[in-house]
Amino acid sequence: MKIIMLGAPGAGKGTQAKMISEKYDIPHISTGDIFRANIKNGTELGKKAKSYMDQGLLVPDELVVDLVVDRVQQDDCTKGYILDGFPRTIPQAEALDAALGEDKIDYAIDIEVPDSNIVERMGGRRACVGCGATYHIVYNPTKEEGKCDKCGEALILRDDDKPETVQKRLDVYHEQTQPLIDHYTKAGSLVEFDGTLDINVVFENIIKVLG
Ligand code: AP5
Ligand code: MG
Ligand code: ZN
Repeated sequence: MKIIMLGAPGAGKGTQAKMISEKYDIPHISTGDIFRANIKNGTELGKKAKSYMDQGLLVPDELVVDLVVDRVQQDDCTKGYILDGFPRTIPQAEALDAALGEDKIDYAIDIEVPDSNIVERMGGRRACVGCGATYHIVYNPTKEEGKCDKCGEALILRDDDKPETVQKRLDVYHEQTQPLIDHYTKAGSLVEFDGTLDINVVFENIIKVLG
């Protein structure tokens, strides 16, 4: 099963993708997590990506397309995968379509949350750079404060979760990523979910569709 996650920053893509990945035993591939790991490790790619990410802008397509196309061709992807945060522009979607050929995406999961809810959510988010798990101080707290339940690493506040950067990311989302909703509607793979509901309810609604 090949899935992509659409939805605004903070809609819950990463949260749901992790749960789907565990249930269906397919890899969760988050381009944001890949960039953050590269930043942490001080790689060339990380240095380039950071300057865009800190401003709430998208990293240029040429830095992300080959990376994802290579990743989905690795052995652990033969049963499928979940792409979280890719594609994010029409050229990225077209590049993915071209790489997949007849072997199309099964579901483009769009999680809908109004902008007004997002800024509040982001302020309470805590992220694990170790394994990519995401928490929220109110809606999804860890068992032990500041420590990842899954891998035990320390949690961070993301550099791009400052309110003014979140607003920029929302603007960029509406301008560059929202057109993908049309793209995947036309392809017949779009499924929409109300992302304002409880995390577990959103998940139940998703698995009703995925089977
Ligand atoms: P990325 O890491 O993908 O960030 P994003 O799309 O902005 O989305 P987020 O990760 O912020 O949100 P999410 O939808 O995963 O929500 P989450 O589950 O964490 O990208 C970061 C940057 O990298 C981009 O700005 C760009 O610069 C670059 N980049 C990445 N991919 C790229 C690409 N393809 N092309 C170009 N540039 C790229 O949930 C958010 C919070 O809400 C959490 O605290 C969570 O616990 C909580 N929550 C989740 N669901 C619920 C719920 N139902 N109710 C209450 N709280 C909830
Ligand atoms: Mg995410
Ligand atoms: Zn972790």
